[in-house]
Amino acid sequence: MRDLQHVAIIMDGNGRWAKERGLNRLRGHYAGVESLIEIVRTSSDLGIKYLTVYAFSTENWKRPLEEISGLFKLLISFVARELENLVQNNVKVGILGERSVLPEDVNRSIDKALESTKNCTGLSFNIALNYGGRAEILRAAKKFAAQCAQGEADAENFSENDFSKLMYTADIPDPDLIIRTGGERRLSNFLTWQSAYSELYVTDIYWPDFSPEEYEKALDDYRQRDRRFGGIK
Ligand code: FPP
Repeated sequence: MRDLQHVAIIMDGNGRWAKERGLNRLRGHYAGVESLIEIVRTSSDLGIKYLTVYAFSTENWKRPLEEISGLFKLLISFVARELENLVQNNVKVGILGERSVLPEDVNRSIDKALESTKNCTGLSFNIALNYGGRAEILRAAKKFAAQCAQGEADAENFSENDFSKLMYTADIPDPDLIIRTGGERRLSNFLTWQSAYSELYVTDIYWPDFSPEEYEKALDDYRQRDRRFGGIK
């Protein structure tokens, strides 16, 4: 799609969706996976090149253990169930975040998804998992310091573009549009470095109710925006 390469989504409102129905919060996440599958498919059909979703933040470890392990189980079952479809639709899976502390079965499942889709050339679908924007910037700064100490980088001639290459998103352009469902008006440590000029779209709709039609509304809204990147027309 012209002028819109990268859409990023904060999939919020699963818990409230479940609560309104008198269900366990995990039921909301289950329903959220169904929305996610539809949005991946729609993104692919629309020719969007990059889709990044916030599945688990560095702050989400504060949630009850039952919910955390439920979310991880959901990711594993998502991969088991959807991998074949993703490959068939030429979707390349990527992970943004600190993987070293994730449970072993989660990492195994991720490795399988990365390996099976590594040659896919269609939609690049990135899952932010144990991801935090500030942690990512700090990690990049540490890498930079190490490179300087080794004489591999030169602080004087180091550009924003060079620094971007130290992020999890090294090969991914900055998001053009960030969508947040569930009504909160904040970025919650998502793509902190990359969101400098992203357009923001917030909807009160809870993530499990975020249909392809709602997605189209967000994309239509984006198309009306006048992006000047600090310049003038
Ligand atoms: C926010 O809703 C949502 C999350 C913390 C998890 C999002 C995860 C999924 C949609 C499914 C798992 C992902 C994959 C890739 C299979 P919330 O619980 O904060 O909702 P609330 O604000 O209403 O409580």
